[in-house]
Amino acid sequence: MLYYIIITLLSIAVLVLSVVMPNDFFLHELPRLTANIGIAFLRVTLLVKPVFMIMTKYLARKRSGIVKIFFNILYTISRRGMKWRRQLGITSFLIIAVHAGLRIIQWMQIDFSLRTQLQTFRLLAGYIGLLMLFVGYITSNNYSIRLFKKNRKLIQYTAYIALIFALLHLAFLNFWEYAQHYIIFIVYFVLKLIEKKYIKLF
Ligand code: HEM
Repeated sequence: MLYYIIITLLSIAVLVLSVVMPNDFFLHELPRLTANIGIAFLRVTLLVKPVFMIMTKYLARKRSGIVKIFFNILYTISRRGMKWRRQLGITSFLIIAVHAGLRIIQWMQIDFSLRTQLQTFRLLAGYIGLLMLFVGYITSNNYSIRLFKKNRKLIQYTAYIALIFALLHLAFLNFWEYAQHYIIFIVYFVLKLIEKKYIKLF
């Protein structure tokens, strides 16, 4: 809970600072930086579970040699990640919210109309993605977790929808520059199929 409060306040502080000191760093460099760090956090949040599940299954088969060492490392990292999944999700949302917030502040200095924004497909996709992450964020505190206990799984699915909309948000930018995002999405999709046993590796 303390983490939740601290990181939320920190994000608000960054946005306030960018209004008070609208310099090149806050309005041009930081939006890009937060976009890339935010999406990286989102990927890790979503990848942790399939990697952990697959590694658990793999190690249960007691393989040996270099492969086992490699899988052991992945297992240890993903097990730790599983414990931090909630914090990772919260952090993803806040970093991406700062990215969107900074862009909005930047536009406000010129001309900002939410209506025009929502008519631009890639921005609309961004807003929907952000909304999906917000649902996860607002339901990640202890009180909401108790309240939505039965719907937790359903709420977690919003992160997957957010990732799809994030890709749509990037779809009309330079394809090759953002190709890594699509490749990681395909890797993630394949891992999910392995985790759910639609693809059998071993
Ligand atoms: C799930 C939500 C979102 C994610 C994951 C996301 C991620 C990204 C990423 C990775 C980029 C590319 C950064 C780069 O230039 O290297 C980007 C660009 C951008 N995003 Fe977002 N974003 C999201 C939501 C939003 C929202 C809600 C807005 C609107 C305020 C927005 C506005 C922009 C703009 C204006 C660009 C720059 C593209 C350009 O140069 O024209 N994003 N975003």
